[in-house]
Amino acid sequence: MAVAVKKPKPMTPDQFERLPSHVAIIMDGNGRWAKKHKLEIARGHRQGTESLREIIRHTDDLGIQALTIYAFSTENWRRPKEEVEALMQLILDFFASEIDELDAKNVRILILGDKSAMPPKQRDTLIAAEERTGGNTGLRLNIAINYGGRDELVHAARELALLAASGSIRPEEITKQSIADRLYTRGQPDVDLLIRTSGEMRLSNFLLWQCAYAEFLFPKVLWPDFSVQDYDEALKAYAQRDRRFGGR
Ligand code: IPE
Ligand code: IPE
Ligand code: MG
Repeated sequence: MAVAVKKPKPMTPDQFERLPSHVAIIMDGNGRWAKKHKLEIARGHRQGTESLREIIRHTDDLGIQALTIYAFSTENWRRPKEEVEALMQLILDFFASEIDELDAKNVRILILGDKSAMPPKQRDTLIAAEERTGGNTGLRLNIAINYGGRDELVHAARELALLAASGSIRPEEITKQSIADRLYTRGQPDVDLLIRTSGEMRLSNFLLWQCAYAEFLFPKVLWPDFSVQDYDEALKAYAQRDRRFGGR
């Protein structure tokens, strides 16, 4: 007789010594998951949205303030046309199936990235999600789509340069705060914990400024297999980290 392996229950906030205010996740490994299961790449991405749904729910249940997920980078346009199309379709499907629940849970959605360069349907969907949930006061769910950390910094630099050129500010008045205020994440806490699944250990142009003092975790598990239990493990590991911020 097969012995059923019982999954541990999702953890509750009081079980953690300390929780991050802002978690960022690079959801990586969909392609390798599809390959491993001899499926098309698009199936890997679709399976990845199942993990995402669970992880958003658990983040909300834990009362974490902000979750930022990397869905599509400015570099991902380099992928084969069919794969990009599949990802674009998934964006529409994800919002169609999730927006009611997210809104009902008081989640506030913000898109990080250049929406203007997205195909019209996707752009409208993203804008609609932001507008619909803009007044919500619960979990801040930031979805990075057509996002690049360097683009974000260039954009901030240009805005400040314009202000300086027009005489509205003096160059000496440019501070860390004035840069932070011009990033997509303005008003939100810095990233405390960055998780990248699939064992890759790089940032791939994600939240360069916001991760200055983030704790990094690189679980080997591929994103479509990343479970609430894996997430709890990562959060437990985070609670054990000694964050010094350069101090003693
Ligand atoms: C991450 O999975 C999802 C996106 C980049 C959209 P990948 O597709 O990069 O998966 P691997 O790295 O090929 O396994
Ligand atoms: C980063 O993953 C982007 C997303 C997860 C959306 P990639 O798989 O595109 O990054 P590289 O190419 O391995 O650095
Ligand atoms: Mg990858």
